[in-house]
Amino acid sequence: MTQLISRMIGTGSYLPARKMTNDEMSEIVETSDAWITERTGIKTRYIAAEGELTSDIAAKAAQHAMDRAGVIADDIDLIIVATTTPDKTFPATATSVQAKLGVDRGAAFDIQAVCSGFVFALSTADNFLKAGQFTTALVIGAETFTRILDWTDRGTCVLFGDGGGAVVLRAEQGEAGQEGLIGHHIRSDGRKSDMLHVDGGVSSTGTVGHVRMNGPQVFKHAVSNITSAVRHVVAASSYEVEDIDWFVPHQANQRILDGVAKKLKIDETKVVSTVSQHGNTSAASIPLALDTAIRDGRINSGQLVLIEAMGGGFTWGASLFRV
Ligand code: UT7
Repeated sequence: MTQLISRMIGTGSYLPARKMTNDEMSEIVETSDAWITERTGIKTRYIAAEGELTSDIAAKAAQHAMDRAGVIADDIDLIIVATTTPDKTFPATATSVQAKLGVDRGAAFDIQAVCSGFVFALSTADNFLKAGQFTTALVIGAETFTRILDWTDRGTCVLFGDGGGAVVLRAEQGEAGQEGLIGHHIRSDGRKSDMLHVDGGVSSTGTVGHVRMNGPQVFKHAVSNITSAVRHVVAASSYEVEDIDWFVPHQANQRILDGVAKKLKIDETKVVSTVSQHGNTSAASIPLALDTAIRDGRINSGQLVLIEAMGGGFTWGASLFRV
């Protein structure tokens, strides 16, 4: 029996023009290409131009996804932007994206779950579409994350980059649990917020603040939380981990990607890794990696894709879908 499901009908991405290498990083802080490569797998990251806003990046990624999906602004009635680096405290970056794309109906709002933001946003949009409240959604992850970095802290500034990725979802009749978006598992644990946070904010300091992270602790929690979220989402589906065609993880650190894939017994040939080129782009990393692998022909229509993420909060989660 068919019912209302969400189908992913297009993906897109955008990277700022400026690419920054590890050697350039070593001119700013005491680090080296060898250390960054060995400990993280990162070789380059992209930096937004002066005046280039998160909404500019998001709108460009979204327009690519819309072109790929064959939809126009009038078709879109829901825009969710996952971001940690909004243009302004308010309005939501999603409303700026709505205006930039020429969308004048439906609703637009942001989701803040840091690096897990795209998984949270995808799950939210899926529920709206399945409920029949909206018909065509843009789910975007976009960041100008380098603007909240402390460029004197080598433990964080070498890790992150800017960029955006987007998907278009459409509510259609289909086989629930078999086609389109299949399932999600999202979690938070506010007791761990001190391990990865920004030391500023509107109601606390009145400043924007900078990223602070206990790297080794976050690393440890990331591998176990991600593995658990993946096991939950797979267990709730009619599939096994072996059925997954592509694993598109949040791109935080190659060692985390490898550790999770090993624990889950996912063959490395099924893992999409863009961390070496993009660094960690927080909420943008999954849709950026997904679009990269679709554009280069690795991920094909109908294949089963698993995504996962873990970020500040802590927040974490996983989603399973067919592209
Ligand atoms: O997306 C949100 C989730 N974020 C993550 O998942 C990040 C998780 N954490 C990590 O990826 C890793 O913990 C890091 C890449 C951040 C750090 O790697 P690590 O292997 O855990 O290194 P560490 O923090 O234990 O530091 C080891 C050493 C220290 O020196 P000493 O104390 O042993 O002398 C650091 O001071 O490496 C030093 N170090 C650096 N050296 C050169 C830290 N950062 C750098 C650097 N360049 N950039």
